[in-house]
Order: sequence, then C-alpha cells, then structure tokens
Amino acid sequence: MKIFLDTASVKEIQDGVDLGLVDGVTTNPTLAAKEAKGGKTFSDIVKEIIKITPGPVSVEVVATDLDGMLKQAGRISQLGSNAVVKIPMTTEGLKAIKILKEKRVAVNCTLIFNSLQALFAAKAGAEFVSPFVGRLDDIGQDGMQIIEEIRAIFNNYKIQTNILVASIRNPVHVLRAAVIGADVVTMPYDVLMKLPHHPKTDEGLARFLEDWKKVSPDGSFPL
Ligand code: E4P
Repeated sequence: MKIFLDTASVKEIQDGVDLGLVDGVTTNPTLAAKEAKGGKTFSDIVKEIIKITPGPVSVEVVATDLDGMLKQAGRISQLGSNAVVKIPMTTEGLKAIKILKEKRVAVNCTLIFNSLQALFAAKAGAEFVSPFVGRLDDIGQDGMQIIEEIRAIFNNYKIQTNILVASIRNPVHVLRAAVIGADVVTMPYDVLMKLPHHPKTDEGLARFLEDWKKVSPDGSFPL
C-alpha cells in the first residue's frame, strides 16, 4: 500500500520524504489556503512540492465547467511528469476525465462518497479514485465500508484504477485500508507521525538502555 501525504506544506512533505515514508502527495484548495502566507504564491508552492516528491502529486482544478476544467488540467499537467489532475466527481468531471484519459493525462477523481461514484470515475478513465472516509464517519456512516465495496467491485471487473483512501483521520483508518487492500492512503502529517510509535517500544528501549549500564557503566559501546 502506498502512502501519500495530504498537505500543501513543503516542510511536512520534506520531513516525510526524509523518513522514506512518502510515495506521493495530495493537495486541495483548503490545504492550499492554509499555506497561502509568507509571500509565496500557490504556483511557487506547487512547483516545489512537485520537485521534492518522489511520486504523484495531485493538484485540484477549481473550474466546474468542462472547458474550464480541461484548461486548468492542461496547466497542471505541464507542471511535471508526476503531476496528477484532481477532478471532482460531477457529470462535467466525468466528461473531463474521459477526455483527459484520451490525452494520457493522469486524473485523481475526488469527492467520492459512494462506491458507484468510484465505479463511474474508473470507467471514465481515472487513474485514482478518492473516497472520503472521515467525512462519511462525521455524518454517522462507516466510511471504510465503501472502501470494502469499491475493492470488491474493482476486483470483480479487474479494474486497474487505484483506490486512494482520503479524508483519513486516524491510524485505525490506515490499518483498515491496508487490511482491505486499498492501493493508497493519503493522510495528514500528524497521522503519519503517529504510525511508527508504540508505548511498548519506548518502554522496551528505556529498559535496554538501563540494563546496558550494567555491561558498560560509562555507557560506551565496546564492539
Ligand atoms: C483528498 O485528497 C483530500 O485532500 C482530503 O483527504 C480531504 O480530507 P478532509 O476531510 O480531512 O478535509
């Protein structure tokens, strides 16, 4: 399962890349708005993200009509070979995905809230579909259930589109996505940083270091 960071923060992405954990990045207009400070334009930020990320970087169109989406998609796809165009799940969006697929432009279809939307986006030609699990949980539905459904549907019909689990809120979402067999999870930096930790690991390390003092009272390592 690939791990993407869901952020527009260059610092967070660089940290994750240095840890060797980040395979790609997803951004959206809300995440961009958080970074729109300090004199840097969104264009500068996106160019830097595309340069430092070792895999796909999704950048969202903000037009909602077909022509506008295609124009913005063209500009996004020219930013780098790893740029992926994020298109919302609308009827105009489906038309755009079909045309972009014919032009070999990679698309991530976003704002998916049920499994049939994911099937339609895949049939239109999306390379990634992004179901938003956390926002479904927020309204009392089990977001991960649609990931199970999408996995089953894509397996039934041998659909190659990547299931990119989005709107991740906690490590349990990540675990469930891995058990179900999702292709990618995109998560905020704070969730990523929680994943390598376990209190028993910290406790175990503290005990080993304490016991080592009995072997080497000055703490040196003799080998
Ligand atoms: C996906 O690409 C979106 O950027 C994202 O996961 C939305 O998550 P949120 O519900 O936390 O805003």
